[in-house]
Amino acid sequence: MYGVKLLSMGKAVPVRHMTNDELTQFVDTSDEWIKSRTGIEKRHISTGETTTDLAINAAKEALERSGIDPRQIGLIVVATITGDYIMPSTACQVQAAIGAENATAFDIAAACSGFLYGAKLATDAVRVGSCEYALVIGAEVLSKTVDWEDRSTCVLFGDGAGAAIFQKHHKNNIINIYTQSNGGLSECLTLPSIPLKNCCVEQETRSPYMFMDGRAVYKFATTVVPMSIQRVLEGTSYTLDDIKYFILHQANARIMDSVAKKLEVPTDKFFKNLHEYGNTSSASIPMALYDLQEELKPGDPIVLCGFGGGVTWGSMLLVWE
Ligand code: COA
Repeated sequence: MYGVKLLSMGKAVPVRHMTNDELTQFVDTSDEWIKSRTGIEKRHISTGETTTDLAINAAKEALERSGIDPRQIGLIVVATITGDYIMPSTACQVQAAIGAENATAFDIAAACSGFLYGAKLATDAVRVGSCEYALVIGAEVLSKTVDWEDRSTCVLFGDGAGAAIFQKHHKNNIINIYTQSNGGLSECLTLPSIPLKNCCVEQETRSPYMFMDGRAVYKFATTVVPMSIQRVLEGTSYTLDDIKYFILHQANARIMDSVAKKLEVPTDKFFKNLHEYGNTSSASIPMALYDLQEELKPGDPIVLCGFGGGVTWGSMLLVWE
């Protein structure tokens, strides 16, 4: 078994930045309601940028910062629920765009836990020696999945991508990763794919948009996240007190405050950038870690925690280098 290090990161967002006030043109809402219930102030919305474009741009930045040759990358995992194509995968399109000709590339769908699921696969692969470098990307254009007449969902989400390259290393910085799912709760957060419409069935029977039971998701998140964070620390030499920052999936500031309270950890240890970006699903954790980079010092222990549709969740304990 080898050690694994987080080598470099990249981020990409659409150019258009939309404030809460601007949303009042589409739905009956207010800056005050959105800010007080979620902490979100703005989000980036695609005016043509695709999920693939964002994934490629984030990957290119991570690659540039890594200093490696793209042909050294053995694995590309893109976590997305908003790929432009079901086939080819977004990961294969990224592979072609960056010239990672020796990689195996595929997408995974684990919603807002997607980056952590991808990171688990990638770091496991590096750890056992299947590849030396693995690229994991969370990329979403969620603005195409929400009903812009449904104020209960359209105000929450944004578009963006974050990328990370993991490297085989003599030292191990990825101390632990844990993921889990509960398909029994799947109905609280759904996004339909291609509807059944063929020579036998003529009528589409379901809405094409994202559905969310906000209260059920809130309850799920505030229950599972403290448990997930404690679980990833179990069996390690780290305690909650040792952790410099917690980076949760950026869904809702109230969820973060509730988790901080349950764990009895100061809320300022929970990094937030959702006021700028809203909920970008699988992209939110790598985008947040990217934004926090400047403040991190070598040796800082950090916990990342994702939760989302499926339902899925997971955490990573890493030591910044
Ligand atoms: N603007 C103004 N009012 C709104 C609104 C909006 N954008 N969206 C909903 N409302 C209204 C509702 O219609 C309801 O009005 P009513 O009482 O007249 O029926 C009222 O606000 C309360 O709605 P409710 O859904 O009960 O609000 P809430 O306090 O549960 O907050 C969420 C809604 C979505 C912010 C909250 O449930 C939440 O954060 N859930 C978790 C969501 C999440 O994290 N999703 C991503 C997971 S990956």
